[in-house]
Amino acid sequence: MAKQQERKIFDSFYNSISLFGAFLAAITFALILFLFLAEWLSPRTVPYLGILTYIVLPVFLILGLILIPIGMWREHRRRVLGLGKQVLPRLDLNNPKHRRGVMVFMTATGIFLFFTGLGTYRAYEFTDSVTFCGQICHKVMEPEFVAYQTSPHARVKCVECHVGPGATWYVRSKLSGAYQVYSVLFNKFPRPIPTPIENLRPAQETCEQCHWPAKFYGDRLVDRTHYLSDEENTRWNYKMVLKIGGGTPEEGYTSGIHWHMNIANKIEYVALDEERQIIPWVRMTDQNGNVKVFKSTQDDFDEAALDTLEIRRMDCIDCHNRPSHQFKSPQLALNIFLETGQIDASLPYIKSEGVDILDEASEAETYEEAFQIIEDGIWNFYKEEYPEIAETKAAAIDSAIAVMKRVYRRNFFPYMRANWKAYPENIGHLTSPGCYRCHDGMHETEDGQVITNECTACHLIIEQGDGKTVMEKNLYGLEFRHPEDIDEEWRESGCYECHGPEE
Ligand code: HEC
Ligand code: HEC
Ligand code: HEC
Ligand code: HEC
Ligand code: HEC
Ligand code: HEC
Repeated sequence: MAKQQERKIFDSFYNSISLFGAFLAAITFALILFLFLAEWLSPRTVPYLGILTYIVLPVFLILGLILIPIGMWREHRRRVLGLGKQVLPRLDLNNPKHRRGVMVFMTATGIFLFFTGLGTYRAYEFTDSVTFCGQICHKVMEPEFVAYQTSPHARVKCVECHVGPGATWYVRSKLSGAYQVYSVLFNKFPRPIPTPIENLRPAQETCEQCHWPAKFYGDRLVDRTHYLSDEENTRWNYKMVLKIGGGTPEEGYTSGIHWHMNIANKIEYVALDEERQIIPWVRMTDQNGNVKVFKSTQDDFDEAALDTLEIRRMDCIDCHNRPSHQFKSPQLALNIFLETGQIDASLPYIKSEGVDILDEASEAETYEEAFQIIEDGIWNFYKEEYPEIAETKAAAIDSAIAVMKRVYRRNFFPYMRANWKAYPENIGHLTSPGCYRCHDGMHETEDGQVITNECTACHLIIEQGDGKTVMEKNLYGLEFRHPEDIDEEWRESGCYECHGPEE
């Protein structure tokens, strides 16, 4: 009896299960508090810490807390059965021990609920963070995460495009996310990750949260510099006016790509492949309700197949499918570094060698292997073909190699097999069909109207040339001149047929 008096709360609490539960809860709680403070005070975020703090530890905390009443209930029953008295415990607030017990219990629950609330909110925030999406499944999301960081959307959270606002999509994404976690743990994910993402949320509910489609963008000047594959790495430049347009009819301004495609007309299509690259059938409904159906004269498409194929309504993603994850081809990726001088354009054939070597390295299995290919390839070329330059310009060659490794690191992902070949870009028509999926001049209505492939429908070239032998300027538009003499070939074949990944 004397010993019992020292006990401060319910007797039944003093059993091994409840004590263990309380111990577990106390330890995890202290850990959570510590990690929470550590994260809060630390200047950088540690990717994996959040999983521990907001997901793993709370599970143990709750387990500990559940063990306490279970132990108490068992202990109580044991005593009651032994004594043969009443089954439920009796609470007597006049008894100081009981009173203290209730106080301790209520305070603990209060504190616990407060922190659970805070914790749940933090867990919610955490699972929505760029860290969670981009860095936790490090290897899997690496290509998208890396590309994202240098995209126009580097300050937009992954979830703002991939999940969007509202609880339903949050839950949906976490459910499919649970499957993704499983497939990562058991190494069951496809490489590269296939696109289009099957159940990506419709663009109206994501992109249009920030971009008002009717906004008038007007014309935009695009300036593209290229370096050719000759010994001099000849510079070639296009300046063109891209007719983006937009507008609300009420305000008078209506024109351009956005107006025709997105605002005035409803355009639907079916695709024969999962990447939506082969489009044999397009239906346009204009603002007056007139319907036109265009069929490709290339694929003999049977309209009976419409019953089984998904008819998709065109939205932002059908053109802007890489707003945040662009993987550039070696041809285009190197141009900018030659332009800024980070690759010395006076090194003979540096462009063409760079393109070839990056292409070769794209087959590598690891970065180490790829970097070795780049280093050896470039050095061997100069040592064999230009031994003098290899000596006098060794530093320039070394820094060109360093830049190429950077280009590789940013655009090629051996582990996920992600690169420009795996992910076609739908804006434009240079490296993949893009607009030419429909605007190839071969999509016709029954009575012979064609979806335009006039070079001036979407843009006007106002300046082109290398600045030495050719330099043409005209604000009303120039006829396209291909940098290398390929005759009239560019009229007959799509640019992507020569500039895309060869099959
Ligand atoms: C500006 C909007 C936007 C943001 C921000 C964004 N994404 Fe994407 N993401 C897209 C679009 C659009 C696609 C392509 C969808 C399609 O083709 O169906 C895509 C595709 C993907 C894919 C599929 C593979 C691929 O490359 O197509 C993954 C994985 C992905 N995103 C992960 C992320 C991660 C991780 C983040 C944050 C670090 C992120 N995304 C941020 C819009 C975005
Ligand atoms: C949370 C807001 C937000 C969402 C959601 C968003 N964007 Fe953006 N987007 C921006 C901002 C801000 C910029 C301008 C960045 C800058 O110029 O610094 C931008 C820029 C762009 C640009 C111009 C890029 C360039 O080259 O200048 C395009 C195209 C674009 N967004 C398309 C999309 C598409 C398509 C989606 C949906 C998949 C989307 N955005 C979703 C905020 C958003
Ligand atoms: C028919 C294809 C197409 C569709 C559909 C489309 N766009 Fe565009 N959009 C373009 C092209 C082409 C450009 C030119 C800029 C470029 O090449 O990135 C552009 C440019 C933009 C820009 C950048 C404007 C600037 O000032 O540079 C934004 C933002 C944008 N689009 C948002 C959207 C949104 C949001 C949607 C969906 C409501 C959408 N677009 C649908 C083709 C399209
Ligand atoms: C799914 C098929 C499809 C794709 C992909 C597509 N378009 Fe179109 N586009 C159409 C149809 C259909 C029309 C309407 C043709 C008509 O009115 O006769 C059209 C009309 C246009 C027009 C107006 C042409 C005119 O005669 O004034 C422009 C500009 C345009 N598209 C730009 C683009 C750009 C830029 C892209 C790529 C970023 C693109 N389109 C991709 C189907 C498509
Ligand atoms: C349906 C619309 C459309 C048609 C038709 C079209 N283009 Fe384009 N073109 C685009 C878009 C969109 C871009 C991409 C702009 C960008 O990269 O931001 C582009 C880019 C280009 C570029 C710049 C490539 C670069 O990166 O330097 C050239 C050059 C070009 N087009 C030439 C042509 C020629 C020549 C024709 C006719 C044979 C043609 N285009 C027909 C929409 C079109
Ligand atoms: C018959 C094949 C073929 C067709 C079709 C073709 N090109 Fe080319 N293109 C070439 C060749 C070959 C080169 C020279 C390679 C080099 O010097 O890098 C080249 C070089 C270029 C370059 C410089 C590339 C760089 O490395 O930056 C641009 C830009 C270009 N072409 C644009 C276009 C456009 C736009 C179209 C479509 C209107 C087109 N090409 C159609 C074969 C083709």
